[in-house]
Amino acid sequence: MAVKKKHQRPKIAVVLGTRPEIIKMSPVIRYLERFKKDYFIVHTGQHYSFEMDRLFFKELELPEPKHQLSVHLAPSQGHGEHLGRMLSHLEKIFLDEKPSVIAVQGDTNTVLAGALVASKIHGIQVAHVEAGLRSYDREMPEEINRILTDHISDYLFPPTQLAKKILLSEGISAKKIHVTGNTIVDAVVQNMKIAEKKGLPMPYGLKTNEPFFLMTMHRQENVDFKDRLKAILIGLSRVHEHFKIPIIFPMHPRTEKMLKTFGLTLPAGVRHVAPAGFLDFLRLEGKAKLILSDSGGVQEEACILKVPCVTLRTTTERPETLTTGGNVLAGYDPVKILSGAKKMISKKAVWKNPFGDGRSGERIVQILENQAT
Ligand code: UD1
Ligand code: UDP
Repeated sequence: MAVKKKHQRPKIAVVLGTRPEIIKMSPVIRYLERFKKDYFIVHTGQHYSFEMDRLFFKELELPEPKHQLSVHLAPSQGHGEHLGRMLSHLEKIFLDEKPSVIAVQGDTNTVLAGALVASKIHGIQVAHVEAGLRSYDREMPEEINRILTDHISDYLFPPTQLAKKILLSEGISAKKIHVTGNTIVDAVVQNMKIAEKKGLPMPYGLKTNEPFFLMTMHRQENVDFKDRLKAILIGLSRVHEHFKIPIIFPMHPRTEKMLKTFGLTLPAGVRHVAPAGFLDFLRLEGKAKLILSDSGGVQEEACILKVPCVTLRTTTERPETLTTGGNVLAGYDPVKILSGAKKMISKKAVWKNPFGDGRSGERIVQILENQAT
């Protein structure tokens, strides 16, 4: 299929659909907006609950998506149905809007759908922000999304030299690769300042100097398996028994649903709270004595904010967080979760942030402006 170009300046479509994409694309969007670039936002509706979606547009003062899809799934529907719905809607939008380049961020189904549709339309290029991450764990749906998206992209924006090396080792041309840093650094720097300026009280009624651990968990390969989810809960109860410090757990809707499905309850000392906005979450991360998480973005933020992290996974596509010494992998083994917490709690936060200087959004837009046709 061919798209007849209308524009000399690149017209950029930012395609996003989930909480981390909104957050990590926000520096790119802010830059596009500030310098009045020719762009628009497409939201696939993959995340749709207020606290997983609208809250971030409001808080980060992002412009509304020009196109808002709805791809809600019933529990019985799978990734194929999810992707299929996005593909057909996105194709119509791209054919109508004729962008020169679409930009996606990360590794979700939204990312693969956007990249795949665009790659099949002549005249539309694909830009992948946060390219080159690999966990080498194909059980993760995200790993397949990352690999496929990287291999059909025209612009690859790996956050680090290590991620670039991975792309080169897979035969991707060096001409397409631009190391930009990770836009999460921009987002953390920009929004931590805003959070501090606002002088908000600590969320969830926490007192300013009250010690706490922060926890998040939502990975399909953890929460969709009863034995693994149960093992992590046992790990958390051991951490609480040992340290006697409350564990604050802003819970992802997927996890809430799976706890109910399996009839599992949280152990004593683990406090279930609603998902936080980004400003609150950043402040929670900054004040936490320790972070326990299976999230990709949270591993990065812990490293940037110099808070020790225990990752509730056996692999990570962010090995830089391990080599700096700020993170340890514990998987879902209760013994390793406790030993990881013991090891990390006493870590001196002396490591350097490996994810860039906070100007990644600007770099990405400038490269697209200069090169996309
Ligand atoms: C998705 C991404 C994952 C990313 C995560 C960020 C894929 C394959 N997974 O996982 O890579 O780390 O987003 O949070 O793309 N739900 C709600 N409200 C929402 C969103 C989800 O209730 O706003 C519930 C629904 O029951 C839904 C389930 O969570 O079926 C899973 O949502 P989905 O977007 O498929 O996957 P996530 O686990 O959110
Ligand atoms: N986050 C948030 N509120 C929360 C939990 C997470 O704002 O209650 C932010 C967090 O700061 C990070 C992003 O959401 O920037 C991570 O998203 P998530 O863990 O859902 O996805 P992943 O990074 O694993 O893809």
